Amino acid sequence: MKNFNYNIPTKVLFGKGKVKEVGKEAKKYGDKVLLVYGKGSVKKSGLFDIVVNSLKDAGIYIYELPNIDPNPRIDSVYQGAELCRKVGINLIIAMGGGSVIDCSKAIAAQANYCGDVWQDLYVEQKLDTLTSALPIASILTLAATGSEMNGNSVISNMHTNQKLSIGHDILRPVFSILDPEYTFTVNKYHTAAGIVDILSHLFEQYFTPDHEGYLQNRMMEAMMKTVIEYGPIAYNELDNYEARANLMWTSSLALNGMVSYGKVETDWATHGMEHELSAFYDITHGVGLGILTPYWMKYVLSEDNVHRFVEYGRNVWKIHGHDNMEIANKAIDKTREFFNSLNIPQTLREVGIDDSKLEKMAEQATIFKYLAKVYIKP
Ligand code: NZQ
Ligand code: ZN
Repeated sequence: MKNFNYNIPTKVLFGKGKVKEVGKEAKKYGDKVLLVYGKGSVKKSGLFDIVVNSLKDAGIYIYELPNIDPNPRIDSVYQGAELCRKVGINLIIAMGGGSVIDCSKAIAAQANYCGDVWQDLYVEQKLDTLTSALPIASILTLAATGSEMNGNSVISNMHTNQKLSIGHDILRPVFSILDPEYTFTVNKYHTAAGIVDILSHLFEQYFTPDHEGYLQNRMMEAMMKTVIEYGPIAYNELDNYEARANLMWTSSLALNGMVSYGKVETDWATHGMEHELSAFYDITHGVGLGILTPYWMKYVLSEDNVHRFVEYGRNVWKIHGHDNMEIANKAIDKTREFFNSLNIPQTLREVGIDDSKLEKMAEQATIFKYLAKVYIKP
């Protein structure tokens, strides 16, 4: 196992009713909070009012930045950072899914930064220049990205068709509130996309050429089995608490660093390709991953790595047999069938992507291939 420094400092408040504790937690950081949220789901679900009341009860002044887009834009980052500086925000609270949390992290970075975070951090990856950031917290409403416990932030610049990521420990949320009841309102489409995203994060860290990381690989198999067990339940019964709770906790654990610490290398090729699809066509992240993943698996499968696909087939899908390649191929087919059961499209054409920009996307994915390595650097 490789050396590593374990660093997962986010305090997690998990379960029913935990949202009401936000005021008490937030007060530890000061009395000016910026609430960042998306296009309205938090108001429809009633979460917004509960959070505002709890913050007001704690004597906190609230400022708001609504309307964050899925695939959050750099323009929102500049807008939020300016507001933070102007009024002297002490804590940013992101209420939503990965997009809102990622945007809040970028705002937290830009608020204290002398230059332009887009150019310096996202494009040029000068991560050492980020030495301070405002504290951010999250109230998660969609189980998918793991952003609630990690230091990653993925931002899109639609002017340049770029979707780029950074990973920095300084951006890990100081606390995150995970109440599965507030994911009941996530529709089937985004529930499915979230399920695929969680699995994909595990695949990216599991399908690696190493023969080490036995413990990490077994932990990941347990998480994959959890998603395969509870994903379809949540998809078919949107308000099933146990299913939503299992997905939510798995999403956090799958990408907070725990399962990759000590592993020699992680992959992130599928994410690299998907980010280009989103950058050019603004498609839903999990849907893009669902289309690409089975093709990627078939493409990379070889005698050198078949052992890992066999472990996946045997331990996750309970596939028996003696022929390694046959087990591996059956496991890939099972993966595709699972995505099909969640109505994930199978081809790029189905989501409106033809081959006109493939070369450009490939070029960008390759130029920025180092970005893949920034996810949870051990
Ligand atoms: O904007 P609102 O109204 O809130 O609606 C959102 C949005 O339309 C909706 N939604 C969220 N919670 C809901 C809800 N609707 C009803 N009830 C609720 N409780 O869902 C839609 C999608 O939200 P979004 O935040 O975009 O989804 P997700 O959490 O999948 O985040 C995707 C973004 O995260 C990035 C992706 O690339 C993409 O930009 N990623 C971030 C990662 C990280 N920080 O570690 C890793 C991932 O690999 C990923 O790249
Ligand atoms: Zn992802």
